[in-house]
Amino acid sequence: MKVIRVKDANEGGKKAFELIKDGMENGVKVLGLATGSTPETLYKEMTSSDLDFSEMTSVNLDEYVGLSGDDVQSYRYFMNDQLFNKKPFKETFVPNGKAEDLQAECTRYDGVIADHPIDLQVLGIGRNAHIGFNEPGTSFDVTTHVVELTESTIEANKRNFDKVEDVPTHALSMGIGSIMKSKKILLMAFGTDKAEAIKNMIEGSVTTDVPASVLQNHADVTVIIDEDAASQL
Ligand code: GLP
Repeated sequence: MKVIRVKDANEGGKKAFELIKDGMENGVKVLGLATGSTPETLYKEMTSSDLDFSEMTSVNLDEYVGLSGDDVQSYRYFMNDQLFNKKPFKETFVPNGKAEDLQAECTRYDGVIADHPIDLQVLGIGRNAHIGFNEPGTSFDVTTHVVELTESTIEANKRNFDKVEDVPTHALSMGIGSIMKSKKILLMAFGTDKAEAIKNMIEGSVTTDVPASVLQNHADVTVIIDEDAASQL
């Protein structure tokens, strides 16, 4: 893993943007994208740049079960609002959280990933080191699946909802097996909340208890962290 230390999330967003721009100049056509507060500074850089994304495809990591794309708390809404409405892409994919048959939706999404192999995957990290919504204990081989969110994730994500009871208990997530097939991976983490996860991911052993530790087995991973996220290294 290549670790790049930055001062704060703003500098991290700029650095991540440079890497994406460089990737696009070198043939990157499919971006794997993430939600959460972490990539917001990156998306700001992308939308304020003059870079053209109209030939790019994006494949997002995950979506809450039960929320539609019109729902302000859905990840589809977040992506449209933060990025796609301002910078049109050729095509954008997010799992359908309102699918009637969730298993069929997982299979469909695996097909989307197979048809659009990810050149560069952007990741954040959960406090418990989850990536996408792959919570601790998830097999490293899994593809798109329905996840029951852990209490720690529900607690961390409740800030976007009126009350904790409103946070969906389940999500659809791209699996670790699919994330690992991305040619390049760019993981960002900012803030002390992420310091322990970052330490375990980089310095700990590779174990399903720390989902992000699997990235030690990937040949091309760049980690962008601020001073706070790096504070336990
Ligand atoms: C959610 C998302 C992850 C994200 C994580 C961290 O659970 N499913 O993809 O990395 O939260 O979120 P944040 O960046 O807001 O800390």
